[in-house]
Amino acid sequence: MSRKRKEINSNFFSGFLNVDYLSEEDKYIYKKEQHKYKFNVIGAGMIGHEHIKVTMLEGRATIHGIYDLDKKSIDNTKRMFSKNFPEHELVDYQTLADACHDPKVDGLIICTPNYTHLEIVREAVKSGKHILLEKPMATNLKDALEIKELADGYEGIFQIGLQYRYKAIYNESIHEAIERKSIGDIKTISIVEHRVPFLDKVNQWNKFSKYSGGTLVEKCCHYFDLLNLFAQSKPSFVYATGGSAVNFKDFEYKDQKSDIIDHANVNIVYENGVNTNFNLCMFSPMFYEEITICGDEGRLRAYENDDFLPVNRPNTHLEVLSGESKPTRISTPCYPSVIQSSGHNGGTYYEHKYFIDNIEGITTTTATVEEGFWSIVVGIAAEESIKTGKVVYINELLKSIYEEKETVSN
Ligand SMILES: NC(=O)c1ccc[n+]([C@@H]2O[C@H](COP(=O)([O-])OP(=O)(O)OC[C@H]3O[C@@H](n4cnc5c(N)ncnc54)[C@H](O)[C@@H]3O)[C@@H](O)[C@H]2O)c1
Repeated sequence: MSRKRKEINSNFFSGFLNVDYLSEEDKYIYKKEQHKYKFNVIGAGMIGHEHIKVTMLEGRATIHGIYDLDKKSIDNTKRMFSKNFPEHELVDYQTLADACHDPKVDGLIICTPNYTHLEIVREAVKSGKHILLEKPMATNLKDALEIKELADGYEGIFQIGLQYRYKAIYNESIHEAIERKSIGDIKTISIVEHRVPFLDKVNQWNKFSKYSGGTLVEKCCHYFDLLNLFAQSKPSFVYATGGSAVNFKDFEYKDQKSDIIDHANVNIVYENGVNTNFNLCMFSPMFYEEITICGDEGRLRAYENDDFLPVNRPNTHLEVLSGESKPTRISTPCYPSVIQSSGHNGGTYYEHKYFIDNIEGITTTTATVEEGFWSIVVGIAAEESIKTGKVVYINELLKSIYEEKETVSN
């Protein structure tokens, strides 16, 4: 039976069915995608596992090996891999250079803690392989600028792991607000994130600003990326308030006290006048995020809610209200459940699908290094504003970083 690339990825549903009674010759719909690419995962912790599983689910690539410094992470990943993908081998590299330069491998997925990204990228770019670098690209603007320079003109794909834009609610919001212009010209945007505290990590790196960049860089760069995207402009100035009200107030790890914030209100005004804000609370018993966009012809609101309750109701919502000018729409955007439950409500799946499309020369809208940079510019400005109590003007912030860089290189 001849076979072209299929339109449908049978991994979505064949996992639920018994297809073992069919000979390989009789498998057409159920035939597994041939792996065309091999990726290595550098940093096999929480998100490393999500990248491994999603790569295998998407099907055009396979995971060839991992590199990690922590024995528990390595053993845990090997166990997970052999249980889920028994027909595949997993290489356990002994050095970063080995993992980066294995000629059998086409791409590198970097998912180590934020403060290690620069050091790993310096080695990874020597390989010329395609790179998917987790967000935030760095913990500070000096490192971020160096990564930007390393990625400039890079021969392979260099993508940043800002995949929230592919969650169904944001995907549909982009379609309505930007592509269809359903609410007219965008004037104000507000994002809310209410969630449980930061989870435990290997060596608890996310409890310390020097390792993570601070809460507004580490986690909230996702939302600043979305604000940048919807505002369709560059941030002009940022004013933020926030602090540590509940979480990790007594947390100490290896004699260091946690210094991260757990709530904030961040106002960002864009060069085109779009007025935005972001509200964070990390001591809520749920994962909830919401976006409200007001334009001169309507209002869009979308949310995603995982509250762990035994209540049967949709956990996504999108409404586009247009008054008398156009039809109003209310919907529950989602993906097939296998994708929706594969990590970050499907965002990670599409990040991978488009990473491979990028490799194959198909134009996509994945996050560029430039976009990764601007997402942390806002996060760093907001952290700075909370510390000083002052408005942070983005051109002044960037000027000081460029001057510092000049002084160091002279
Ligand atoms: N895009 C997203 O939605 C998303 C979600 C979670 C985490 N992340 C990002 O992914 C990265 C990792 O986060 P995580 O939650 O998986 O953390 P984690 O602590 O669970 O895992 C990190 C892993 O990296 C390993 N590691 C540390 N330093 C290393 C080094 N120098 N070389 C090789 N391995 C090293 C650790 O041993 C650990 O196994 C962070 O940058 C984080 O911000 C992104």
